[in-house]
Amino acid sequence: MGSLSTANNIADLRALAKKRLPRMVFDYIDGGADDEITLGDNPSRYSDYKLMFKTLVDVASIDMSTTVMGAKSAAPIIVTPTAAQRLFHPRGGESAVARAAQKAGLIYCLSTLGSASIERIAELTDGPKWFQVYVWKDKAIVEKALERARKAGFTGVILTVDVPVAGNRERDHVNAFTIPPKINAKTVSQVLARPGYLFDMLSTPEIIAANWADMDTGGMGIIEFLNSQFDRSVTWEDARWMKEIWGGPFAVKGICRADDAQRCVEIGADAVWISNHGGRQLDTSPATIDTLPDIVAAVRGQAEIILDGGIRRGTDIIKALALGANAVAVGRPYLYGLGAAGEAGVSHALNFLMTSLERDMALTGVSKLSDLTADFVRRP
Ligand SMILES: Cc1cc2nc3c(=O)[nH]c(=O)nc-3n(C[C@H](O)[C@H](O)[C@H](O)COP(=O)(O)O)c2cc1C
Repeated sequence: MGSLSTANNIADLRALAKKRLPRMVFDYIDGGADDEITLGDNPSRYSDYKLMFKTLVDVASIDMSTTVMGAKSAAPIIVTPTAAQRLFHPRGGESAVARAAQKAGLIYCLSTLGSASIERIAELTDGPKWFQVYVWKDKAIVEKALERARKAGFTGVILTVDVPVAGNRERDHVNAFTIPPKINAKTVSQVLARPGYLFDMLSTPEIIAANWADMDTGGMGIIEFLNSQFDRSVTWEDARWMKEIWGGPFAVKGICRADDAQRCVEIGADAVWISNHGGRQLDTSPATIDTLPDIVAAVRGQAEIILDGGIRRGTDIIKALALGANAVAVGRPYLYGLGAAGEAGVSHALNFLMTSLERDMALTGVSKLSDLTADFVRRP
């Protein structure tokens, strides 16, 4: 905790998380696919976009508030869905992240592979929340989950489309890491090296895929069953089906191309979510910020645009918004905070992003988000 106060940015939180987490868990958060080219490009490409600040603008009061897919948010920053958050902090997990998001006034997204259930999150927070899904082979399972989400007060659904198969994350192979972790010489020695984490793990309930715990898997283990549900044959017709049965605010997450963004609009999606899964799926796909201008042009205001991947500072958010995104989403920034210090660490990460966005808006010479236009960014 003490060291949290010395974390001046997301890189500092990352260093703290690295100290507290077993190597395999840190690498699962931190790593990407293949040679990790996209993983590196996502954050680093922002430095090629330069901010053309305006001077002598009245920035006495800065308004960062916005509405995304009908949900009010204190800032244009969404807490992305990430799987099994109790792995990163066994005591806090999703509860810590959902509470910190609510305190910050931001939208919380629960992963379909979360280690807390839809109903548990609803008990914990009456803040804005969305549920993330995949189209699975057995569509009835997903349909039931959407019904549960609706009942529990989740207002938006996110369909993630960049995982027809799992990406090749070589750090996980090196560490012999799986979800749930299997006991072998490597994993045991890494966990023993982090006694605080080990104590938390042993003194809290087992980490499970909480949304599916009561499902009839025909005798299969739950993770094996869920893995068997990933369907390589999913197409736009399935996405359309999902939008229709949900009926409410609906985002398609994992879009890289302008023609796919247009398809999102055609199937009635309310938001196009530009993402390459944080560089965890197809390596050498472009940094998301580089794909934004073409997608904005293709969407022509017919859907909202959310962008994630590599957002680490307020200036990154300003660039994405100036180039046409309605909001950004963040994954690793709050996961590093969670790994470093549970709920306090997540709050630290979210507060850092919000404080730096506010300061950087003042420095850029804009007092509200709608003032952020493309002329503030000089492109490469
Ligand atoms: C550890 C981890 C787990 C993730 N799990 C999911 C998931 O269950 N569903 C999903 O749609 N995206 C998942 N993602 C991708 C994030 O939602 C998001 O696209 C990505 O983290 C954004 O990049 P950033 O980490 O650089 O902010 C995961 C990302 C990480 C780092």
